[in-house]
Amino acid sequence: MKYIIGNWKMNMTAGEIVNFSKALRKYKFPKHSDVMLGLAVPYVYLLGMSKMQSSMMMIGAQNVSNHDKGAYTGEISANMLADVGLDFCLVGHSERRAMFGETDEIVNQKLEKLQENELLPILCIGETLEQYDKGQTKAVLSAQLSKDLEGIDKSKQIIVAYEPVWAIGTGKSASADLIKETITFIKQELDKILGKREHIVLYGGSVNPANSAEILRNEIVDGALVGGASLDADRFIQIASSVF
Ligand code: 13P
Repeated sequence: MKYIIGNWKMNMTAGEIVNFSKALRKYKFPKHSDVMLGLAVPYVYLLGMSKMQSSMMMIGAQNVSNHDKGAYTGEISANMLADVGLDFCLVGHSERRAMFGETDEIVNQKLEKLQENELLPILCIGETLEQYDKGQTKAVLSAQLSKDLEGIDKSKQIIVAYEPVWAIGTGKSASADLIKETITFIKQELDKILGKREHIVLYGGSVNPANSAEILRNEIVDGALVGGASLDADRFIQIASSVF
């Protein structure tokens, strides 16, 4: 099974979403195709988009509060996301870490809230360009994983997305070889932290219809987390159909 998850970030209007959904509904995916689609949607459109949920389409949020409830103006709790029937939530995206002060401790708390509410967390990790240049990628990923996953319920499924910060929105994807090597490493780390089992690890960072087939061909890559190219239904479908 390959997961193709779009992260719309702070994009799309209601009108654009209607067109996107129409195009997606029209496309006939081959029966029994081994692909799970997902869209991480801005909060205000989540309820509308939940109509798209199906056995091959997950709808989720891009962020969640690390608190349960109460006087946290502007925040949305994991309980609320579960209450409206969502499937998953992104956590620890590099944009949130870099621009909104999200520490590993906060990411860990958010993960815990998602698990308590039976939502599938998609944990994003990745190194910056500076860390990459200094050869620190593995140390950075290992530290993020051990801090973000500390004390979580090992029996529950999580998805990890490897998103090198230098590849996000730059048009400069990591090479298929580097992705393979890094995801292999991440799965070994997950074996140590969560126990030996099948782990689901996606790649994200400038995935587009031109490079998706090569990236997804490798068995170790369980899918893609797609930013810019997920805003256009045709491009999103092209990426998904590069799986079969
Ligand atoms: P791009 O595909 O636009 O590089 O974004 C990747 C990303 O951040 C997905 O979460």
